[in-house]
Amino acid sequence: MKLAELRVGNRLEKQEAILWVQKSSQSANGSWFVRGTLEDPSGAIGFICFNAESVARIKELTEAAPAVVSGQVQADRYGGEGKLQFLADYIDLLPPGKDVSHLLPAASKDMEEYKKKFLKLVAGISRPPVRELLGEIFSGSRWEQFIRNPAAKRFHHAYIGGLLEHSVDVAEMALAIAATVPGVDRDMVIAGALLHDIGKTEEISADIGFSYTEAGHLVGHITAGALIIDAAARQVQFLSEAERKSLLHIVLSHHGSRDKGSPVGCATREAVIVHYADEVNAVLQQFVETGEKEGAGWNFNKMMGSMIRV
Ligand SMILES: [Fe+2]
Ligand SMILES: [Fe+2]
Repeated sequence: MKLAELRVGNRLEKQEAILWVQKSSQSANGSWFVRGTLEDPSGAIGFICFNAESVARIKELTEAAPAVVSGQVQADRYGGEGKLQFLADYIDLLPPGKDVSHLLPAASKDMEEYKKKFLKLVAGISRPPVRELLGEIFSGSRWEQFIRNPAAKRFHHAYIGGLLEHSVDVAEMALAIAATVPGVDRDMVIAGALLHDIGKTEEISADIGFSYTEAGHLVGHITAGALIIDAAARQVQFLSEAERKSLLHIVLSHHGSRDKGSPVGCATREAVIVHYADEVNAVLQQFVETGEKEGAGWNFNKMMGSMIRV
């Protein structure tokens, strides 16, 4: 049964889910209990577990882990109206190395379609060295990671394939904007849009929990992206210095300003276009994802910090 479909009274027997431990503590009588969240691609539910053997297996967990759980859904007395809680009477961790990709959030769109769109965008680049640069970067293990990675840990496109989907959608929107503005270098817009978040292949792991990697914490995706592009650009013989710098600028400025994490503000038409296309795509995605999770109506949106009508 999908977690999103659970109602009070439902029982789960040995169901697989991603488990996050939020708190382990001792109750007044000295016995331990654990609180946390269970997740599957459909959604999440808070759990509590008092079963001593299960608690002993999970109470030290600091990261998300795949688990198998049994228990019953009840109303969460302290969680507010309509909130559910899973009272787990059995929890065990899945053995390491077991394929758990079915437990990770997946894209609802057709990823094969997105790969085709991606290749079409690259084919639309007119100058061969710019195309060659993209071929250099989007190949081998980097390509495998790019098509698998989420685009974010939580806020938008936080699912397998999310980075590919986001990058392609940003490129298509950026091209549509570029068509309305004179003097825009289309090649730079396409390459810059497809590459703007390439650093996320190093910043965020596509494994359970989509956690930040060490490089993510130490370098961040904007700088990581610039480094990836710079290293690849040096392998492409006929890519001009102006093109290398123009692309680096798009990636470095794509958050729009210093207070949002970019070391430089947008100084070229192409950078402005990619920045706004990125922002519009991430914001509009809030409506899609909130709609999928909560259904139609008014909802508070964390990313926007306000109520939105879905
Ligand atoms: Fe970004
Ligand atoms: Fe982005």
